[in-house]
Amino acid sequence: MPDLIERAVAANAPAFVTEYMCGFGNEFSTEAVRGALPLGCNSPQRPPHGLYAEQFSTTAFTVPRSDARRTWFYRIRPSAAQGKFVPLAHSGIDAAYDRPTPNRMRWDPQPPRTGVDFVEGLMPLAATTGAPETGVTAWRYSADRPMRSTFYTADGELLFVPFEGRACIFTECGKIEIAPGEICVVPRGMKFRVTPLGGRATGYLCENHGEAFRLPDLGPIGSNCLANPRDFLTPVAAFEDEAGPHALVAKHHGALWQTTLGHSPLDVVAWHGNSVPYKYDLFRFNAIGTISYDHPDPSIYTVLSSPSPVRGVANMDFVIFPPRWLVAENTFRPPWYHRNVMSELMGLVTGVYDAKADGFVPGGASLHSRMSAHGPDAATTERAENAVLAPHKLEGTMAFMFETYDLFRPSLHEGVTATEQAGYDSCWDGISARFGRETGA
Ligand code: FE2
Repeated sequence: MPDLIERAVAANAPAFVTEYMCGFGNEFSTEAVRGALPLGCNSPQRPPHGLYAEQFSTTAFTVPRSDARRTWFYRIRPSAAQGKFVPLAHSGIDAAYDRPTPNRMRWDPQPPRTGVDFVEGLMPLAATTGAPETGVTAWRYSADRPMRSTFYTADGELLFVPFEGRACIFTECGKIEIAPGEICVVPRGMKFRVTPLGGRATGYLCENHGEAFRLPDLGPIGSNCLANPRDFLTPVAAFEDEAGPHALVAKHHGALWQTTLGHSPLDVVAWHGNSVPYKYDLFRFNAIGTISYDHPDPSIYTVLSSPSPVRGVANMDFVIFPPRWLVAENTFRPPWYHRNVMSELMGLVTGVYDAKADGFVPGGASLHSRMSAHGPDAATTERAENAVLAPHKLEGTMAFMFETYDLFRPSLHEGVTATEQAGYDSCWDGISARFGRETGA
């Protein structure tokens, strides 16, 4: 277990017991009450224990079998037993976005917020031009109290990247506990409730409006490495049978709606299928890198990928920069200077990112849009060019990218613009021309 998670567990958090099934994209079966799962059919005339059968589909019925994702729920009441939704105002979700910019941008962490739950504490960082129909929306979240309502978004699947505190995500499929260093993905439309465990839970959130995440192809790497399928964990069935008023909040086409039920919507007693929530420990990522020279393309650090309709580019790649050995000879070891067709929104879970000497801290973020030039800051370049190239291990670090083929529109929410670093461009100021002043030039 990495130090980061050990520290989080030790941080006076209440005990919490979870059980998981392992594998990515599996057809899972689980029941919280013995005999609740029908055998040999999906929709019997009268399901066991008086439960109702309900199919939950997150792909079209007719997609190729290898792409199909659906889960059968066996629940106390069907989801259809709900009232009319009414609009619900939310300063973060209703906030406007600026137009896409070629300027490099960077933000400080948000000041801690108190007395807010996960939905109330959502703060949009940037949304792509296609959102909420395609592309992604990036958020930061902060919660220090449990959600009283249950939430789902019809606009995409959600990728949680916590950097502070533990939380329980109680989904229709069961309970997932996450800590910094781990990620969690909840399918589009799945209802869930977030409860901080032992204080504040803070992190980044990506709403993927495109196709569901899958593991990247490995090509010449072969059949192992990067994120191995067995390290993805999906919860066993868990439910609550609670009567009484219960709020259900939905995000639908970029706006919030709310309705009240006479019972808890987290009442799935058994389920089977492959449209499921899962978590993954980023410190289990099996990093691939050079053992000779040059810095490989960052695609070797892709954990999850959402395909786009455009050949060769992703709707969204989730890429990490984990602890790893650097051994390349005669090589500028940090990321090289570059201009990309993809737009990169970066965050930091812990430690220091090896391309920036300062100004980029956990909870902060940076944006380098399509073809916007970026790379190591001046101090990092100076250090890397003069480093002794002995084997060196980058430790205690975990940076990541939400990378998309679309263009990001930065949030205009005042809570976000207040954290923007106006002088970000100056980190490259110290890079001077030296052509003709060095041997061999
Ligand atoms: Fe980059």
